[in-house]
Amino acid sequence: MRRSHKKCEGIDMILGISGSPRPHGITASAVKEVLAECDGDTKYISLAGKHIGGCISCLGCITDNRCIVNDDFQVIAKEMLRADAIIFGIPNYYDVPNGLSHCLLERCFCFRHRGAFLLQDKLAVVLSTGYSSDEKNSQVLKIVEHFMTMNKMNTVAKFLVGAYSQCYRCTYGRTCADGNVVKNNGFVAEVTPDMLPPEFDKQPESMSKCRSTAELLNRILPKK
Ligand SMILES: Cc1cc2nc3c(=O)[nH]c(=O)nc-3n(C[C@H](O)[C@H](O)[C@H](O)COP(=O)(O)O)c2cc1C
Repeated sequence: MRRSHKKCEGIDMILGISGSPRPHGITASAVKEVLAECDGDTKYISLAGKHIGGCISCLGCITDNRCIVNDDFQVIAKEMLRADAIIFGIPNYYDVPNGLSHCLLERCFCFRHRGAFLLQDKLAVVLSTGYSSDEKNSQVLKIVEHFMTMNKMNTVAKFLVGAYSQCYRCTYGRTCADGNVVKNNGFVAEVTPDMLPPEFDKQPESMSKCRSTAELLNRILPKK
């Protein structure tokens, strides 16, 4: 049975972060799907509309592991520190994490100085959205997992979720020789729904990955 988001004091907190600049896209749906099946206290944060710059290498964090740059990272950092597990939803842009997500991950530099690793042992789930389906060779999954490892986090699951290429919606895609519509279908009179990758709730495999990941977290977390 689908559970709603909960707030329960004294038990594990699971944080889901969608790194997409689109608030209601596939990344948001996938992260929410995992959270919906998790036991314990869950919190969802979307990076859409947030202002998070990359690390500016000011070293203002080296004495107390607190980033001194005043932007939306501050609130997210607090929740990351409070969480027992973090689900990262990361859109694939050019086969690397999108800029917004990358900025967030870079800023986690502040958590790891002089023997302190403030995210150490927290569980991590990495899901990446995009039209590429080569999970084994996904650079995005590898890069994000590397950030987790650098923070001594424990990545317990990583997987891809299908999303469309912008070429399918830009309205020029059917005649654009450089775009994915023509690459996959040749020149077409119109882009028909069967050419589009399915929305998240029409992807049974992706939904099942999200749910089994939640079950995994439910099994592991109480034993921590
Ligand atoms: C600038 C840009 C570059 C992209 N590059 C890739 C890519 O190299 N590979 C891929 O699979 N998807 C690529 N995409 C598609 C995105 O991964 C897809 O739109 C996104 O995951 C959808 O997530 P959302 O619905 O949460 O926004 C790109 C999208 C944009 C905007």
